[in-house]
Amino acid sequence: MRLEGKVAIITGGSLGIGLETAIRFAKEGAKVAIAGRGLTALEEAASLIRNVSSEVMTAQVDVQAKSQVDRLVDEVIERWGAVHILVNNAGICGLSSFLDITEKDWDEHMNVNLKGAFLAGQRVAREMMERGTGGSIIHMSSVNGIKAEAMQAHYNVTKGGMNLLSMSMALELAPYGIRVNALCPGFIETRLTKSLIDDPRAIADYVKTIPMGRVGQPEEIADAALFLASDESRYMTGHNLVVDGGQVIKLA
Ligand SMILES: NC(=O)c1ccc[n+]([C@@H]2O[C@H](COP(=O)([O-])OP(=O)(O)OC[C@H]3O[C@@H](n4cnc5c(N)ncnc54)[C@H](O)[C@@H]3O)[C@@H](O)[C@H]2O)c1
Repeated sequence: MRLEGKVAIITGGSLGIGLETAIRFAKEGAKVAIAGRGLTALEEAASLIRNVSSEVMTAQVDVQAKSQVDRLVDEVIERWGAVHILVNNAGICGLSSFLDITEKDWDEHMNVNLKGAFLAGQRVAREMMERGTGGSIIHMSSVNGIKAEAMQAHYNVTKGGMNLLSMSMALELAPYGIRVNALCPGFIETRLTKSLIDDPRAIADYVKTIPMGRVGQPEEIADAALFLASDESRYMTGHNLVVDGGQVIKLA
């Protein structure tokens, strides 16, 4: 068991990549707290995680709200005494041409994807420092944080920001044994990408941009998250780990 005795918080843990990561961590012995906005989705996710572990808790949290993020961390500490792993996974991705992005859309992307990661990262890092436990913080970034994709300027900027947030936190938190890394998935089959996957012609064209010739699965990102959470990556911090079937290395 690679995470035996560890306590992990996974934001956006009720669906997609977050849920698969929660299941993977639970299989490896972690106590897992999943946070998300929808109660029903959280309960359904918890019942799936309970198939592999009884040590699971759910919290209805909007990561944009500091008070809700603080309450989540308080509840986890009260129940399990520490936090060793944080996965800042909650995220949204709208599609809009640059000229049509509204101020509301812009703010929402910044607040959920970037401010949410800052709030949870800062609070959890303080706990890790005070308890002297060290830990691993993982930002679920994207290849869109490395290269720009049309129709997603607001999303691209949040993921580029997450990569810099990871490096900035890694620099300051390394002396306390806290590692901070970004995981950059390519195109993964989840609710977020469903509309493209459900369009046979569009997805066939899109897959041509991926050297490995297929889209990724949430389990493949969960495996990389497990590596970053575990001691196997103990000398890695401030790194962007790309898991994308080769998509970003392609020039044309
Ligand atoms: N699917 C992909 O191709 C892909 C690629 C690169 C990066 N990512 C990133 O991975 C992460 C997970 O994406 P996914 O594909 O599993 O999407 P998803 O839509 O299936 O899941 C997103 C999760 O985030 C939660 N969430 C959204 N807004 C929230 C908020 N304000 N507060 C709390 N929780 C909130 C949702 O409830 C859900 O649990 C996102 O950060 C996304 O940007 C996804």
